[in-house]
Amino acid sequence: MPYAQSFMKKILITGGAGFIGSHVVRLFVNQYTDYHIYNLDCLTYAGNLSNLSDVDQAPNYTFIKGDITDAVLVDKLFETHQFDGVIHLAAESHVDRSIQNPLAFVQTNVIGTVNLLNAFRKNFKKPHQLFYHISTDEVYGSLDEGGFFVETTPYDPQSPYSASKASSDHFVRAYHNTYKIPVIISNCSNNYGPNQFPEKLIPLCISNIRQGKPLPIYGKGENVRDWLYVVDHARAINTIFHQGNVGETYNIGGLNEWQNIDLVRLLCKVMDEKLGQAAGTSEKLITYVTDRAGHDLRYAIDATKLTTTLGWKPTVTFEEGLSKTVDWYLANELWLNQILSGEYQNYYAQQYQNR
Ligand code: NAD
Ligand code: TYD
Repeated sequence: MPYAQSFMKKILITGGAGFIGSHVVRLFVNQYTDYHIYNLDCLTYAGNLSNLSDVDQAPNYTFIKGDITDAVLVDKLFETHQFDGVIHLAAESHVDRSIQNPLAFVQTNVIGTVNLLNAFRKNFKKPHQLFYHISTDEVYGSLDEGGFFVETTPYDPQSPYSASKASSDHFVRAYHNTYKIPVIISNCSNNYGPNQFPEKLIPLCISNIRQGKPLPIYGKGENVRDWLYVVDHARAINTIFHQGNVGETYNIGGLNEWQNIDLVRLLCKVMDEKLGQAAGTSEKLITYVTDRAGHDLRYAIDATKLTTTLGWKPTVTFEEGLSKTVDWYLANELWLNQILSGEYQNYYAQQYQNR
């Protein structure tokens, strides 16, 4: 049964100060002025309220600083507000950090999700209420050269990050099956775009080119990812939240596969053009480094179910999306510099020094 938009009044978005979450919050606050959007985020290193400076004064928006691992707080919020819908994005999201500290991923991604499910279940009174869980294609594991992940592909997570997301997906399905709460899950491929924390490949390379620093390519650079512009992911989330079928999973992807080395070469070309540098300047920074432990070879998504049943499709080409992304980082030096001057330096040294 699709969910009628008219019922949706109070929406809780978790992790709304992060990369994807901020784009989802912006879309909902601007597009649904008759809803009230609550953004629950504890502002980890990846959360940044300046991602939302254009909407934070909107009358239909409230920011709540809080941790989803705090069951007492989460229960109280659900009791007070009686949310009609939950869009759950809060997570530890970076594979390399999960290799360093898996427990943080269990805490937020597994225990935090179960806390939200418990609170949702306790306050589940109206049949239209919906718990929408945002997940990743990484739960399906790693592909060879051929084939695509479909919604029925068995879970086979390979990193602590994907294991924690797989576990959270399983809990969401288990609560649907056991307690009959309405849930939907979507699993998306790699996102890129404005506001992404510069630990991920694309913003890390933009940031390093800007500073003339090496571009670290793990292993031989042959790993393949499918890239989707973040605004297209936010549009997919909007479509699935309002039109998706309860109890189902939707894969979201860009049909846009790139080997890492080819992607970084293309990005170097875009950066040279934007910075007015001679062609080939940025490429000289490419440096091969020790591979990531357990590095998944290839992710590729078949999003046919979403495109054919709900009519969503990506609207931003990769060339256009990369150009917009680079423009955003070059125009938002303050945003980037604030991150680079903080704890990031320790993270960067730990990950990349002597690698
Ligand atoms: P992000 O790391 O940029 O942001 C995560 C946000 O969650 C931050 O604002 C952070 O402060 C908040 N957060 C973390 N722990 C929290 C806690 N315990 N309590 C409250 N808030 C907390 O992540 P992202 O890239 O925007 O990813 C958002 C979601 O989308 C995640 O669930 C991720 O698994 C999923 N996803 C990401 C991608 C991608 O390419 N980035 C692809 C598919 C799915
Ligand atoms: P990343 O952006 O961390 O996303 P994910 O691991 O979730 O796919 O990495 C994308 C790809 O780029 C992945 O194959 C690892 C690789 N990579 C590098 O080669 N160098 C880097 O410095 C980073 C951060 C990633």
